[in-house]
Amino acid sequence: MFSLHSKMRGYSYFVALCVIVLVNCDEIEDKCNFLDSKLQPNTFRLLSKSIIPTMAGSVKGDAGKIGVIGGSIEYTGAPYFSAITSMKVGADLAYVITTESAATVIKNYSPDLIVYPYLNTKYASKIRSLIPKMDVIVIGPGLGREPETVHLITDIIQDCKNLGKPLVIDADGLYVVSKNTSVIKNYPCPGVVLTPNLREANRLMDAVSKNDSNWYSYWGDCVAVLVKGEKDHFNTNMTVYSWIATGGGSGRRVGGQGDILSGALATFYHWALKTELCKNESQAQLAQSVAAYAAAKITRLCNYKASLEYGQSTLASDMITKIHLALQSAFT
Ligand SMILES: *[C@@H]1O[C@H](CO)[C@@H](O)[C@H](O)[C@H]1NC(C)=O
Ligand SMILES: *[C@@H]1O[C@H](CO)[C@@H](O)[C@H](O)[C@H]1NC(C)=O
Ligand SMILES: *[C@@H]1O[C@H](CO)[C@@H](O)[C@H](O)[C@H]1NC(C)=O
Ligand SMILES: *[C@@H]1O[C@H](CO)[C@@H](O)[C@H](O)[C@H]1NC(C)=O
Repeated sequence: MFSLHSKMRGYSYFVALCVIVLVNCDEIEDKCNFLDSKLQPNTFRLLSKSIIPTMAGSVKGDAGKIGVIGGSIEYTGAPYFSAITSMKVGADLAYVITTESAATVIKNYSPDLIVYPYLNTKYASKIRSLIPKMDVIVIGPGLGREPETVHLITDIIQDCKNLGKPLVIDADGLYVVSKNTSVIKNYPCPGVVLTPNLREANRLMDAVSKNDSNWYSYWGDCVAVLVKGEKDHFNTNMTVYSWIATGGGSGRRVGGQGDILSGALATFYHWALKTELCKNESQAQLAQSVAAYAAAKITRLCNYKASLEYGQSTLASDMITKIHLALQSAFT
C-alpha cells in the first residue's frame, strides 16, 4: 500500500497534537465533507496535500513513472517541459516517446529523461510494449498535426483505452480527439483529463456538436475537462467535484505553460489514484479533480513566482526553476 503505514503514523501524531495543543482538529474530517454539495477551496487544499507521498522508505518508481508522447521535427520544447515538470513535481521516472528527429535534441536538454525515438507508425509495436510500464501518460505536447501522426495517436489512445491507462490529453492530442471524438468515448476509469485552452475547448465543443454547459460530459463518467485560462475551470460529470481556480499567475501567457501543467497533472493524478481520498466518494473522479486542482495551483504559483523575479521576460524555463518553491508554499 501507498505509504499507508507512514500515513497512519502521521495521523496518530496529528491526533496526539490536537489533544495536546488543541489546534483545530475538524480539518482532518472536513476534507471529506461533501454535504454542502460544492467543494470548498479549503477542501481541495486539504485533499491535495493528502496525496503527496512521503519520501521515506520508497523504492525507485513508487512515486510514479510518467510517459509523455509528443514532439515532432518542429517542436522539441513542449514534451521536454511536460516530462521534466512531472519529475520536478516528484515522479521518479519520465519517459518521452518522440520522433527520431526530436529525440536527440530532447536528450541534449536533459540527462534526467528517458527518451525513445519511436513515434512513427513503423515502431507501433514498440510503443505498445512501452505503455504498460507507465503509470500515467500525457499525450499531445508538440505532436504537430500531420495526418500520419493523427492516425498513429488515434491507435495509441485506443491501446491505452483497452488497458484502462489514465491519460492527460493536451495540445495537438486534443486536435486528434476533435478529429475523432469517439476515440475517448466511454473511456474506462481511472479515465482521461483533457486540458484545453479556450480555443481548443471551443473546437472540442464543436466536435461533439453540443454548446450547452454539459458538452464536457459527452465522453462519459470518467473523462474530465480542465479548461485553462485566466481562470481555470474544472468540469466533470460529477458536478460536486467541479471547481474554478483563480489567483496566483500573472498577466504573462508564455509558451510552454500548458506543458508544465500537463506534466504536473500526470504526477498528481498518479498520486491521487494511489491514495484513498474519501470513503464514500467516486475515487477516480475525485482523484481527477484533486490532481487537476493541485496542478493548476502549482502552475499558477510558478508563474507568479517567476514573474516576480523576471517580469515580462518570464519564460517557461524560468517557471520550472520555481517548482520546488511552489510546492513548498502550496503543500507545507
Ligand atoms: C475513430 O476512432 C475509433 C475508435 O478508436 C475507430 O474505431 C475509428 O476507426 C476512428 N475513425 C476514424 C475516421 O479514424
Ligand atoms: C448552438 O446554439 C445555438 C443557439 O444558441 C444554436 O442555434 C446552434 O444550433 C447550436 N449548435 C450546436 C452545434 O448545437
Ligand atoms: C455522466 O454522463 C453520462 C453520459 O452523458 C451519463 O450517462 C451519466 O448518467 C452521467 N453521470 C452523472 C453522475 O452525472
Ligand atoms: C458511507 O456509506 C455507507 C453505506 O452507504 C453508510 O452506511 C455510511 O454512513 C457512509 N459514511 C459516510 C461518512 O457518509
